[in-house]
Amino acid sequence: MLVFEDLRKSFGGIHALDGCSFQVKPGKMLGFLGPNGAGKTTAMRAVFGLLRPDSGRVLWNGKPVDKETAMRFGYMPEQRGLYPKMRIKDMLVYIGRLHGLSSAGAGRRADHWLERLGLTERAADPIQALSHGNQQRVQLAAALVHDPEVMLLDEPFSGLDPIAVDTMSQILRDAAREGRAVVFSSHQLDLVEDLCEEVAIINQGRVVVEGDVKELKMRAPYRRLEIDFDGDMNDLAASLEGVREISSTNGHHRVIVDAATDIRPVLARAQESGQLRSFSYTAPSLSDLFREAVR
Ligand SMILES: Nc1ncnc2c1ncn2[C@@H]1O[C@H](COP(=O)(O)OP(=O)(O)O)[C@@H](O)[C@H]1O
Ligand SMILES: [Mg+2]
Repeated sequence: MLVFEDLRKSFGGIHALDGCSFQVKPGKMLGFLGPNGAGKTTAMRAVFGLLRPDSGRVLWNGKPVDKETAMRFGYMPEQRGLYPKMRIKDMLVYIGRLHGLSSAGAGRRADHWLERLGLTERAADPIQALSHGNQQRVQLAAALVHDPEVMLLDEPFSGLDPIAVDTMSQILRDAAREGRAVVFSSHQLDLVEDLCEEVAIINQGRVVVEGDVKELKMRAPYRRLEIDFDGDMNDLAASLEGVREISSTNGHHRVIVDAATDIRPVLARAQESGQLRSFSYTAPSLSDLFREAVR
């Protein structure tokens, strides 16, 4: 288990991490979510000793992560640190060697990942000759080449087209299925909802929601109403207690209400009006959880 334990880090007056705690289990993929500036990159950098927290620790299987342990982790940084002029395969072999593989072993692993990522034909090209999406794939291969036990990926999906998103998703799923602990940060909540059983939502340096997505949804003290209705939504909602949020576009209304709210009267009124096209009452989505958590 990878444990982030009460990490704190200030830059001048800014508390980038303000008691950040969460856990990632082997074999699980955790989506690390939070608004810009919440502390995601800072927390990941702390794992690799790229910055020293003011207090708190990161533990892997009960022991503080030191340089040696971090060598068995894979990292995809936010600032992609590839050498632009280096040839793709050479760079992967170089990174494999840095992580303790033999040349032959690193070569085999590089070939494996180039094949898997559809880059075999590009192996001798310099990195700078690749498109953004392909550079991102190479960066992923660089995080995987030494077969890490833990993977931390900082916004791995940013700027990818849908095909590349699928490739990345599949590789991360497989990595978790093979028993690795996988953490990635993202703003793409629908993607995280599809991909992750577990999430940690960080806001202002502190994890405010953590756990199994399904359980979090069921335990949330609020529910989501979706109403397709042409009449006056504000008038309709006035008969509803415990309204937390309403957002409307083109006759489609999303209303967040307390879980205890009785929604039958509003359904009855909408039906009576003759202007109701559809009505649903469900657990909140991940983006509802996110919005409520960072509000
Ligand atoms: N090296 C640094 N010097 C000063 N402030 C920093 C530094 N790194 C991060 N910060 C600040 O810490 C906060 C958290 O940043 P970051 O971890 O990059 O957030 P996220 O990755 O969630 O967007 C931000 O307010 C950011 O400006
Ligand atoms: Mg960041």
